[in-house]
Amino acid sequence: MYQEIDLEIDLDKIDIHAEPPIEEPARQYYFMAKCRKWVKGFEQRNGHLPKSCVLNFGCQMNARDSEKLRGILREIGYIETAEDEADFVIYNTCTVRENANTRVYGRLGQLKPRKKKNPHMMIGLCGCMMQEPEVVEKLKKSYRFVDIIFGTHNIYKFAELLSTRLESERMVVDIWKDTDKIVENLPNQRKYGFKSGINIMFGCNNFCSYCIVPYVRGRERSRAPQEIIGEIKRLVADGVSEVMLLGQNVNSYGKTLNTPMTFAKLLQEIEKVDGLQRIRFMTSHPKDLSDELIEVMGNSKKICKHLHLPVQSGSTDILTKMNRRYTKEQYLSLVEKIRKAVPDISLTTDIIVGFPGETEADFEETLDVVRKVQYDSAFTFIYSKRTGTPAAVMENQVPEEVIKNRFDRLLKEVQTIAAKACAVHEGTVKEVLVEDICDHDPKMVTGRLSNNLLVHFYGGKELIGTYVDVLLKECRGFYYIGEMAEAGKAS
Ligand code: 5AD
Ligand code: SF4
Repeated sequence: MYQEIDLEIDLDKIDIHAEPPIEEPARQYYFMAKCRKWVKGFEQRNGHLPKSCVLNFGCQMNARDSEKLRGILREIGYIETAEDEADFVIYNTCTVRENANTRVYGRLGQLKPRKKKNPHMMIGLCGCMMQEPEVVEKLKKSYRFVDIIFGTHNIYKFAELLSTRLESERMVVDIWKDTDKIVENLPNQRKYGFKSGINIMFGCNNFCSYCIVPYVRGRERSRAPQEIIGEIKRLVADGVSEVMLLGQNVNSYGKTLNTPMTFAKLLQEIEKVDGLQRIRFMTSHPKDLSDELIEVMGNSKKICKHLHLPVQSGSTDILTKMNRRYTKEQYLSLVEKIRKAVPDISLTTDIIVGFPGETEADFEETLDVVRKVQYDSAFTFIYSKRTGTPAAVMENQVPEEVIKNRFDRLLKEVQTIAAKACAVHEGTVKEVLVEDICDHDPKMVTGRLSNNLLVHFYGGKELIGTYVDVLLKECRGFYYIGEMAEAGKAS
């Protein structure tokens, strides 16, 4: 685990008997100091430090938020552990599809008997699902054993909420409807030493008619470019060479800044950071993907050869009902433009099957796009009705068995095409950033190509975090088995 910022603030020097500061992040450091005092008391009473576990249920934005929670917990003095040993369990929830919510209730049900046996145990819930008022009502009524509930807008207040809980012994609930606030310079604990996600913006203004994200993540707001660049420089100094810029719609980055700036310009500034080797980003909305960005991608040495470009549906009719604001033809010509500017780019996408009113003909249009674009991979989702979104009350909801049939057909098509797209690199040597020991064979390591494909090859853990040229020997559908090649041989 890697602690990100070198805290210049010494928590032990903060006077926790004084009034808490008003301004952030000083206020949160004050509460971290207070919680740390409690942690020391816990250690004296129990002979060991308290243990915590933050579990993530959502997207990469959520994963990054979880790293922030872990950073704060570590600062306070908690030791990270597995869920079944933790004194403090936190679920960072997702609500983009209904089954994400169901999973959380299921796991909470399993925690209840544990908490009964260990009354000192604490349970925290945060993330997108908590931004739904019905969820919080249900928790307050039927899940009284939960200790802290907070949302996506006030995650930076975690130390303050924990401190309140430790003092009051009562359920603490703090949910904000929206915010325009961005609090910088809080601790962070990232999973990998050599790569990191970085939020460049929060929220979404697009209101795709099926999507709950704009309601739970609030209005779009961008971080100032100097804050982003500053964070990247600190990360690079700490060993990071690959960054993933995160936002619901990175292509509209900068529109809400006092001095507006385009995403393409931000990328150019990031490219200048010495020591940074790879830049990734997600997610791109096709309607906002500019010619300027395509040009920057084509000329860049550091931007990875991978673009995730969610299409959602191939039918212009359905796209209109989805409020996506592009047609099938516009999407396909965009793909053509990108392929021309960056010929070896890998394209991936998200597709929803069974949106209300989707006919067989509409679905065939989706299959047609999949065949025309030849995606390297695609995330396929069954449409999930989200209360409060316009699509939830649309007519002609598609019957379950029809959706299932279409989903299976789509998946087959996507897998066949992806296997073909993946195989084109067989026999070439490519540069790989080694990420981990291979899950299936401890004598192998797993790395990622610039185009996001995974490759497993024989090698030891000393390679983790380094760039290695690898011969891609055998394509196994969506990953490669490779062999270390002579340095400098990569194409
Ligand atoms: N049902 C199914 N899939 C959805 N997504 C977002 N909302 C829904 C929904 N209600 C998918 C979209 C999006 C991805 C992150 O999740 O494809 O791109
Ligand atoms: Fe949801 Fe559309 Fe915003 Fe993506 S762009 S988060 S799908 S509303």
